[in-house]
Amino acid sequence: MEPAAEVLAGDPARGEVIAGLGACGACHTAEGGEPFAGGYGIETKFGTFFAPNITPDATTGIGGWSYDDFVHALRDGRSPRGRPYVAAFPYAAYTRMSDADLADLWAYLRGVAPVEAVERANEVRWPYDTRFATAAWRTFEFRREPPAEDRGEYLATGPGHCGECHTPRNAIGGLRARREFQGADDPPEPSPDLTAIIGEGWSQSDVVELLTSGMAPDGDMIGGVMRGLVVDGTSRLSVSDREALAAYVLSRAPNRHAKPDAEPPSDGEDW
Ligand code: HEC
Ligand code: HEC
Repeated sequence: MEPAAEVLAGDPARGEVIAGLGACGACHTAEGGEPFAGGYGIETKFGTFFAPNITPDATTGIGGWSYDDFVHALRDGRSPRGRPYVAAFPYAAYTRMSDADLADLWAYLRGVAPVEAVERANEVRWPYDTRFATAAWRTFEFRREPPAEDRGEYLATGPGHCGECHTPRNAIGGLRARREFQGADDPPEPSPDLTAIIGEGWSQSDVVELLTSGMAPDGDMIGGVMRGLVVDGTSRLSVSDREALAAYVLSRAPNRHAKPDAEPPSDGEDW
C-alpha cells in the first residue's frame, strides 16, 4: 500500500459535504437509527446487503482503524485484513477520490458520535453469496483508477458516484461504460436516463438548478434517493462545482443521440 496522506490535515466541515455527495449516511444509517451506525438494508437484484457500522466505536465500528485502513477500504475495496468488499459498497467510484477529499472525509467520520451496534448478516441469494461472485466482479469489472482531472468528471465519477445509479449494469453487476447515464431500473428504485434530459430541452442552468434546489424545469421537486444526494451533497457544493458537474452530465448526452438505441449484438461487455 502506498504511504497514505497522514500529512494532510483533513477539514471535517468539507468532509461532511463529501459524505453527503457520497451518500455514505444513506446506506450506513438504518431507518430511524443513529447516523453511520449501519444496519440499513440495501436491496439489489442479488439480495439485501446490510451496510456496517462506520462510526468511530472501537469494537463494533471503525474506531480501531488507521487512516491507511480507511484509504485501503475506499480505494482498493478491501478490509484491513484483506477481505474484498462486495460491489454494493460503491468503491468502484470512490476509488477515484482525491487524497484531499479522503482526508476531509476521514476527519469528518472521526468526529461523529461512536455507536455500539453489531452488524447484520447479508441476505443474499445463491450463488451471489459466494466469494466467487465478488471475485468475478473484481476481476472483470473493478479497476483502481486515479481521480479524473476535469472537475465535473471528478465529482460525477468519484465522490458523486452518479453512474452507480444512472448507468445500466450487466449480468454480474458491472457498469456498462458505453451506456453511461442511460438509466437503470435496479432496486431500490429506477434511476432515470440522464442522456434523455438534453432531448427534453434541459439547459445547463436547469441542471444546476436541480442540483441546487431540487427543482426540475417543470416545477417538480426531486424525490427518492436523489433528494438526499441534493440536500446533503450537491446543494452544498460551490456554484462553480455544480456548474462543472452539470456540464459533465450534459456532455455525456450526445453519445446517446450519435448511435441507434439498439445495442450492438455483442459488445463484449456482458458476462
Ligand atoms: C450504496 C450503499 C453504500 C454507500 C453509498 C456507501 N457504502 Fe460503505 N459499505 C456499504 C456496504 C454494503 C459495505 C459492506 C461491504 C462488505 O462487507 O463486503 C460497506 C462498507 C464500508 C466500509 C468498510 C467497513 C468495515 O467494517 O469493514 C467503509 C469504511 C465504508 N463502507 C465507508 C463508506 C463511505 C466513507 C461512504 C461514502 C463515501 C460509503 N461507505 C458509502 C454500502 C455503502
Ligand atoms: C443512489 C442513486 C442515485 C445516485 C448516486 C444519483 N442519482 Fe440522480 N437520480 C436518482 C433517482 C432515483 C432519480 C429520480 C428521482 C425522482 O424520481 O424524483 C434521479 C434523478 C436525477 C436527475 C433528474 C432527471 C430527470 O429526468 O428528472 C438528475 C439531473 C440527476 N439525477 C443527476 C444526478 C447526478 C449529477 C448525480 C451524481 C452527482 C446523481 N444523479 C446521482 C438516483 C441517483
